[in-house]
Amino acid sequence: MEKLIVHGGNRLRGKVLISGSKNSSLPILAATLLTKDDCVIRQVPDLSDTNYMLQILRALGAEVERASGTVNVKAEKIIPDTPYDLVRKMRASICVMGPLTGRLRKAVVSMPGGCVIGDRPVDLHLKGLEYLGAKVQMDGGNIHIEAKKPLKGCTMNLLGKFGSTVLGTDNVLMAAVLTKGTTIIEGAAAEPEVEDLANFLIKMGAKIEGAGTTRIVVEGVKELHGAEHTVIPDRIEAGTFLVAGAIFGDGVMVKRVVPAHLKNVTDTLLASGYEVTSTKDSVTIMPGSGSPKGFHLTTRVYPGFPTDMQAQFCALACLIPGLSSIKETIFPQRFMHVSELKRMGANIELDGDTARITGVETLSGAPVMASDLRASAALVLAGLAAKGTTEIHRLYHIDRGYEHLDEKLSMLGAVTERVKE
Ligand code: EPZ
Repeated sequence: MEKLIVHGGNRLRGKVLISGSKNSSLPILAATLLTKDDCVIRQVPDLSDTNYMLQILRALGAEVERASGTVNVKAEKIIPDTPYDLVRKMRASICVMGPLTGRLRKAVVSMPGGCVIGDRPVDLHLKGLEYLGAKVQMDGGNIHIEAKKPLKGCTMNLLGKFGSTVLGTDNVLMAAVLTKGTTIIEGAAAEPEVEDLANFLIKMGAKIEGAGTTRIVVEGVKELHGAEHTVIPDRIEAGTFLVAGAIFGDGVMVKRVVPAHLKNVTDTLLASGYEVTSTKDSVTIMPGSGSPKGFHLTTRVYPGFPTDMQAQFCALACLIPGLSSIKETIFPQRFMHVSELKRMGANIELDGDTARITGVETLSGAPVMASDLRASAALVLAGLAAKGTTEIHRLYHIDRGYEHLDEKLSMLGAVTERVKE
């Protein structure tokens, strides 16, 4: 167990290279199970989550090699049973369900347990696979999927109470590419990570149209072949560094990004009065001429404001004069960071799915507890601007989704120490 010590008061300046996307790498690595051939995936970030996925692929029978950001997978012979001990460590393991069902017409995946960011059922994933003709049963904490007869393409709507589902769309897409006939997914998730997965599948020989929109059409094929793919940059990591530049910076550039994927974030920063400029693969944030203004956000599915940036903007609003508010519509209880920010002197009122934040002059460093990936990023950002030292416990939450975060921050001038608990 490690903790991160953040010495506040060191202004950030400079360039940071953004890693490949965690939320794109995970389903793309799972998709390599759809073919017997070699697949080469580049720009896979070195994170505990991607390493769990590689262990799961090996446990399913695939040969896996990794050399820094490049992963080679050959899933010649695979089995349908996923190991509980690995799956319980990472909810996103659920995305092997689609490729196993598509290729083997059989999958046994442990039912994901509870999550601190809120209730996260997988009913839409299962409904989608049932529409294709699979039988779903629960037994002993496991989801058993089986199709005695070949799966059959159909038209389905995957919209749920909270809108579209990212991994649910990925799972159905990965089953549908090897399913006879035409599958139309209405209410599909349009996130860039879903589009990136579809682009990889198309390189493997899949027939897909409309990825990146809410209506995806898949023409099933008999089999897929190997392919090479470079994962898109991580827009949430990039957004987190832009907020670091806003909260306590004098010119921070994020390099190797797709500015269009960040528009929902940069528009908000611009509206708050920060100077934000872009080139084809970089975005730079500078303090604005006057004092920043408060904002009123509502998280939505893409291209709306991302829930995975909510906590970071909550930290930013703590130091912006006046009132800001953030309504969380995707994971309404995703406010674990609020009580920890209040320990640092923040003035936040929680009212159901909405946080109302009144800016304070300064935050003060304190020992705080990380609870989940993005909440812990918010605590690091608050620590950068706080007076004194902040100690963030349970650092493993950060290592799940940020590659070398403390080293990258130090290159921008932050002073942090990673120490054993
Ligand atoms: C993905 O999770 C991301 N994870 C999450 O990022 C992200 O917060 C989320 O999408 C939303 O953008 C990965 O890509 C690995 P959903 P996912 O299914 O696919 C409800 C991070 O910080 N729902 O789109 O699991 C669900 O409860 C992580 O990197 C159902 O009701 O999220 C939620 O309210 C955290 N039934 C909403 O839909 C279902 O079957 C959206 O969830 C599935 C979801």
